[in-house]
Order: sequence, then structure tokens, then C-alpha cells
Amino acid sequence: MTKDATPGTGGCPVAHVTTPDTTGCPVSSRAAAFDPFGEAYQRDPAEALRWARDQEPVFYSPALGYWVVARYDDVKTVLRDNRVFSPSIALERITPTPPEAMEVLHRAGYAMGRTLVNEDEPTHMEKRRLLLEPFTPPQLAQHEEMVRQLTREYVDRFVDSGRVDLVNAMFWEIPLTVALHFLGVPEEDMAKLRRYSVAHTVNNWGRPKPEEQMAVAESVAQFWTFAGEVLEKMRKEPAAEGWMPFTIRAQEQAPEIITESYLHSVMMAVVVAAHETTANAAGNALRLLLENRPVWDEVCADSSLIPNAVEECLRISPSIASWRRIVTEDTTLGGVSLPRGAKLLVVMASANQDPRRFDAPGEVDIRREDASEHLAFGYGSHKCLGKNLARMELQIFLEELSTRLPHMELVPDQEFTYLPNTSFRGPDHVWVQWDPSRNPERTDPGILDRRRPIKLGEPSKKTIFRRARVDSLHRETEDVVRVRLTDVSGQPLPTWAAGAHVEIEHGGLARRYTLCGDRDDKASYEIAVLREPGGRGGSRLIHEQLRVGDDLVIRGPRNNFRIDPAASHYLLVAGGIGITPIIAMADELAAAGRPYEIHYAGRARSDMALLDRLIRDHAPQTTLYPKAEGARLDVEGILVDAPAGTQVYACGPDRLLQALEAASEDWPDDTLRVERFSGTAPTLDPKVEHHFEVELTDSAMTVQVRADQTVLEALRTANVDVQSDCEEGLCGACEIPVLAGDIDHRDSVLTRSERAHGDRMMSCCSRAAGDRLILRI
Ligand code: FES
Repeated sequence: MTKDATPGTGGCPVAHVTTPDTTGCPVSSRAAAFDPFGEAYQRDPAEALRWARDQEPVFYSPALGYWVVARYDDVKTVLRDNRVFSPSIALERITPTPPEAMEVLHRAGYAMGRTLVNEDEPTHMEKRRLLLEPFTPPQLAQHEEMVRQLTREYVDRFVDSGRVDLVNAMFWEIPLTVALHFLGVPEEDMAKLRRYSVAHTVNNWGRPKPEEQMAVAESVAQFWTFAGEVLEKMRKEPAAEGWMPFTIRAQEQAPEIITESYLHSVMMAVVVAAHETTANAAGNALRLLLENRPVWDEVCADSSLIPNAVEECLRISPSIASWRRIVTEDTTLGGVSLPRGAKLLVVMASANQDPRRFDAPGEVDIRREDASEHLAFGYGSHKCLGKNLARMELQIFLEELSTRLPHMELVPDQEFTYLPNTSFRGPDHVWVQWDPSRNPERTDPGILDRRRPIKLGEPSKKTIFRRARVDSLHRETEDVVRVRLTDVSGQPLPTWAAGAHVEIEHGGLARRYTLCGDRDDKASYEIAVLREPGGRGGSRLIHEQLRVGDDLVIRGPRNNFRIDPAASHYLLVAGGIGITPIIAMADELAAAGRPYEIHYAGRARSDMALLDRLIRDHAPQTTLYPKAEGARLDVEGILVDAPAGTQVYACGPDRLLQALEAASEDWPDDTLRVERFSGTAPTLDPKVEHHFEVELTDSAMTVQVRADQTVLEALRTANVDVQSDCEEGLCGACEIPVLAGDIDHRDSVLTRSERAHGDRMMSCCSRAAGDRLILRI
């Protein structure tokens, strides 16, 4: 069901044809009360929109005159589609400027126009391609030494003081200096530039009081004049280093694409974009880590955790909380009809804590494998150009502070304040204190020589893991062993949801095992492993060599088999060791008070793992089918009796899953959700396969996929980054959005209706049915 929305006149754009609340207006009371300039949103935008993620993921805010988008998938949909959701209003002043302040701006010739962030296609990509090179990893790597030195110098200034405001002492000035250096802009009066940046933020994204408007306009006007003067100076040195001289040279070569007014606007916008976001992100990260002391201690003990810690901080506390788009044609988003001209506030800070996308989203887990899937840098063709420069700075800040001041702590009872605005978010101050006599460099000056190589770009999944210890081994059946794992340092383990698995590395082999223990037990994970004589050796190693006290590398939890809460009844079907996700689902449904039934088939009771617990916790809902007793699971029979609105979750051998697929063919799409033990993707046979090409819209290139290559392999050969995990079509890690072309789906991840939509594919196994696909990557 959708809500109807047409632009109204009295502040409410909703045609009053839907079920009204008691006031007669379908704008809910919570939507009406939403205040993006209020204290709750400034303090924690994700928390302030929790209710919206749960109840009203796209709502109209009368206070703002914008539709607010709160869920991850909806925010990503908006950022992905620049045509329907135009970025043209991204720099528009969200609070109207009064005539006298406008006059101040006019006098200065202020004419902020299009820059990369608010440009539509195709102009945006034409410019982006021209201006991209200085942001590429080899070019950025040249700045690493300068960032390190600068950071070292700033920390030198206060390391013996015992108390400092990190924002004023380093987080503001280092990113500003780095930005000016990167841009090739001569170093300027820092305090002046900081004042200009704040005014620019308040001017575009804030709600200045009427009496503040003149001062803001004057600073913005001075900033505009300053940007013009710097530009003129730079024109006199066309061969100088830096992104702005590079842009000036690009203008000479392509004046029709990079215009005069464009240069002036970019000059002003980029000074802010290049440093304020990093300064805020650093303040957010340090506050978050120091408030979560065990996490900070882990970072101090192991610097290899820093790259992913940076991603997790960006996910939980991004420095760009929201961004704006305008709808260019009537459309639907999150079940809400939006008219052409509707303005959207897409809240990345809320999306990043959407439990539909991230398990236990409020927990700080610096080993979270998908932390870098956050939207803190935006998404799609407008994804932040400077993201890897920001990552580099944040990594170096964390490395320097965790090495030299691991014992620092937040000054107790300090109040964190934020500049009231919709989008740029970072604490005004982060006061920390420590005992200088305990500074590690006083006893071990050698720590100052240690440095960890910077990883430019997203952290690789292979580098994100935790060490777990085998706490107990319990023989469930002759062929199934239950393994209890705890964190080696005794830390609590991340929360997981039913259907999740972990990857375990042991004896040089990495294998996935579903979690089947008590979800409320934060101290341990449990898996049950079936000995598979015909397998690839992973289960044999666990059965024959694993001992209590052994340490293992584990990755995850990951989850591709989540329960959809929308069903009215759940049919849980397990065959053999497939009981592991099913029992976790039963636990979750029982705890939530949802109706479910379990059908569990196996060779004999003595072979059926987790039977005792199943009987103990779920006896009334469970039907067993031990073959040795002549019991047979009648797949068609259990489906026939299922009430309308049932969803079926199944895990077990292929023949069981195929029988369920056949029996449910006429059921509504997505009724059946399965998890397989092994992939169904056929091995690549070049004699049977055909060559095709993939056009990559975001990367602006075309890649040929040979008959003996997967799409994933071809993209990596072309230097295009794609995450992957199982590479067997089982896990969903390598998914890529598809814009056009017929897909030959070969994975076990997508449901029937998801395949029918044809808008995504698993690049590790699925191929083009024809000779071309257009991918959004
Ligand atoms: Fe797992 Fe492709 S990498 S589905």
C-alpha cells in the first residue's frame, strides 16, 4: 500500500486521502515533531530517527519542507539514481536568506553555482573523469609522509601536557593544512578559514537566527572574495602542484566542460569539503572509541585493527549525517509516492544503523566485516572523491594517538556540543586527559619509530578477523561435534541474528559454519560440524585435530539467511546438519512470540544433532522424521497444510531443497528461502560458455569477460574492486547492481522474484545470457 502525496499549499504536501490521524492530517505526530536542528538530532541523528526506521521510513517533515529518508536500502536507492533523484539542491540554502543578508552576498558577487556535488548527469561524470587523477591511490600515496610528519608535530606539542582538546589541538588544523597542500592552495590564516568554513556550513545547512543572518552572510561573502583572489593567484602559476592547478589546467583543455564560474564555486566548496568532513570524522571517531574503552584498548594493542576501526567509526558516527536530493519525476520510495519536485533529506547516519542492513547496528565492532558498506561517503557516482585521503588521515591520527597516548581518557562529564545543521556533524571539542609520566615514549622511545603501512581504500576482508579459543568440544552424534568458541582476550562477541554463520580458519583451510548456540550468550559462539568423508578436508580437521584450548581465526558473523519479520507463520524445514540455522530461527521466533513449526528429517535419532535441545525448547512445534523408524518427510503434505502468509525456511541436502522448490512453485514469490551446504553454480566450462562484455557506468569503462573467466575475475583484472567471499554463489558478498541486459543467474543467494527483477547479480558465478550487461559499479 502506498501513501499518496501531491504538493500541497499549506506546508503539508500530502493529499488528505489516506487514513487521517485525529488531526485530519496523515503527517504523523512524530513526523510533525521532527526537528533536524534540535538537540536530539544533533546529539545522535541515528537514535533520533530510530522510530522512523521502524515505523515511517520515508516521512514528510513540515518543519523542514523535506521528505526524510531513514532506511539503508531507501537511502542507497536515492543515492544510486541521479536521474530520478537529482543532486541539484545539495548546496541550496536550507534556511531562506533575508533580503538584507542577500544584499551583502550580492555586493560580493556571490554566485555559488554547480560543483561536483550538486551536478546532474551527464555533466557530472564528464567533469569527474577529468578531475579524478589526483585522487587515485598512487597519487594519494605521495601525501602520506606529509600527513605523518604533520601529525607527529602536532602531537609533540601537547603530548606532555596531560590535558587537551583534540579538536582545537589537531583535528581541525591538520586536515585543513593537508587539504590546502593537496589542493595546492598557499597556507593561509587558519582561524580565518575556520570561520569561513563554519559560516559556509551554517549558510547552506543551518538554521541561523534572524539576528545571525547578517554575520553569516558577511563571512560567506568574504569567503567568496577570498576564493576568487586565491584563484587569481594560482592562475599565475599554472604549473604548480595540487588539485586546483590541475583543475585550472583541465579548464584550459576543456573550457566547455570546466567553466570560469565553475572554477570559482569549486575553489570555495572544495576548501570546506576537503577538510571539515575529516576534522569532524576525527572528533566523532575519538569520542566513540574512548567512550567504548575496551575497543580503544584493542586498537592500542593491535594497530592492524585501525583501518577497519576507521570504517566502523564512520559507520556509527559519520561526519556527513545527511545529504539532499530533489525528485525529477513522480516516483515511489519505501512505499511512499513522491511527486516530482519533492525535496529529500537522505540521512546516512540513520541508514548506517539500520538493523535490516547491519546486525546489532549500535554495537561498536571493529572487526565487523561489512563496516565499509556504510554510506558515510555517499554512494554511486557521487561517492566522495576524497574518501581515501580522509581514510589515510584518520588511520594516521589513530595510529599516532593509540601509540603515544594509549592511556588517555575523555575528561569526565564534559558536554559534547555540535554546530546545529542538518548535515555536517562533529563535536566542537573533545577534551582528553592523561598522566604524562605514563607516556610510553618516556620509557621506550623506540615506539616512535614504529609505523604501520597505510592501506589506501577499503580494508580487505581477509585482514578483518578475531582470534577465538576452543572452549569445549561436545560430541552430539557419532559424526557431529559441537564446538564452543570464546574470544581469546575474553571480550564479548558481537550479537548475531538467526541464520548467521562464521568463517573458521584452521589448518590452512577456511570453512563456513552456521551459529546454533544461545544468542543471548555474549561470551561464546557455538557451531555444530558434520564429518564429511567426501568433503574438502575442513570437517575432518575439526573432528580429528581440534582440541580444547586451540586458537582459531574466525571471521564474521555474516548473515545471508535472515528471517523476514513480515510473515504470519513460519515453516522451518531441516535435513541432517541443516538443523543448525533452523534451531537458531526457532529460538528467535519463540522469543518474539511468532507462530512456527519445525520439520526435521534425519537418518536416525542417534544421528540427528541438537535433538535434546530441540525437544527441550521446541517440543510442541517439532515433528521429527527419523528414516530408520520409517518416518518420511512429506514435503508436499506440509506445504498443503500451511496457512496463507507462511514463509518456508529450509536448510539441508540438495534433494530436500529441490523437492521444496518444486512443491512451492505455485506459491507466491519468495515464500521459500533456503540455505545450501554447497554452491549450485556449475564449474566454468569454456567450451560451453560464451564471451560477453560488461559496461561499468560508475567506472566509465567496458570490460570483456572471456568464456573462461567469471565477471569477478574480469573486473579484478581491469583493476575494479569488488568484494567477494565464498566465490561459489553462496554468500552474496560479490553482488553487483545490473542496469540492463539478461542475466544467467547461477547463485544460491537470490530468491525467485529477486532473479526475475534482473537488477543484480552475483559476479563470482552468474553471467550474461546475451552478449552484454550494463553494471552500476
Ligand atoms: Fe559469495 Fe559471490 S562471493 S556469492
